[in-house]
Amino acid sequence: MTGLVGVFDSGIGGLSILQALRDELPQSRFIYIADSGHAPYGERSDAYVTSRSRAILAELLSRQVQALVIACNTATAVAIEQLRRDFPDLPIIGVEPALKPALALSQTRRIGVMATRSTLASAKFQTLLASLAGQAEFVVQACDGLADAIERSAGNDDTSDIKAMCAKYTQAMGSFGNNSGQIDTLVLGCTHYPFATEHLRELLGTQVQLVSNGPAVARQTRIRLLEHALPATEQPEPTETTARLILLSTGEPQVLQSAAQRWLPLMPAEPISTASKLNV
Ligand code: DGL
Repeated sequence: MTGLVGVFDSGIGGLSILQALRDELPQSRFIYIADSGHAPYGERSDAYVTSRSRAILAELLSRQVQALVIACNTATAVAIEQLRRDFPDLPIIGVEPALKPALALSQTRRIGVMATRSTLASAKFQTLLASLAGQAEFVVQACDGLADAIERSAGNDDTSDIKAMCAKYTQAMGSFGNNSGQIDTLVLGCTHYPFATEHLRELLGTQVQLVSNGPAVARQTRIRLLEHALPATEQPEPTETTARLILLSTGEPQVLQSAAQRWLPLMPAEPISTASKLNV
């Protein structure tokens, strides 16, 4: 079996990355683990997030994945270096807030960054921010509770908390728009936040650019697969037993299932496993 890629997030947010991975690698097979039973990660200790990341990687390795995509900014910021040290031969690709792509887009040079508290506090993010000092003004906003609200809405379709939090956090960041001194570009630095795009658009209008990292992570994954000589494109046709996408959740599998159905454009007649419960 070749080119099997493991992907995980604290919950359903990583589906926004999985979508880009499936577009970039249409012949690859994926196992996606939503650690919803232990979400959110963004307001937990580094030790907790690292130990969850380790447990999930062990599970994915037992299922023979040949590469890992950490589809979570928080787990990447906190745990990727440790995981790379532990598994030097495994290609491990992470995701970080898209500050550089935002720089290329912003005209006003005032850029908003929404992310979890842990991501913003991490040494990895602080180093990235410092490396871009002087090139733009970054207005960073920790969005406590927003990933959790998005996670819950996938189970009950109630988006009122998401709307209220988006309003509160964008207001706290200041004025948005294309005039000098306004924020014209907003980085969605948590993989859950693209699922709040509709509400952010309502609040900010269409001229503010929302930037996330899915396509860049997918391109990077392709490069790493090729470097490791893992065929990204030569795959046998998936069959019933080799579903192209396996969905596992440490929380409610039904929530992951409906989120995937809503947010991943499943290919017609594609074999997909029904999301299953995972105990790790
Ligand atoms: N989706 C995750 C991220 O990109 C984590 C959200 C959370 O669990 O707090 O940061």
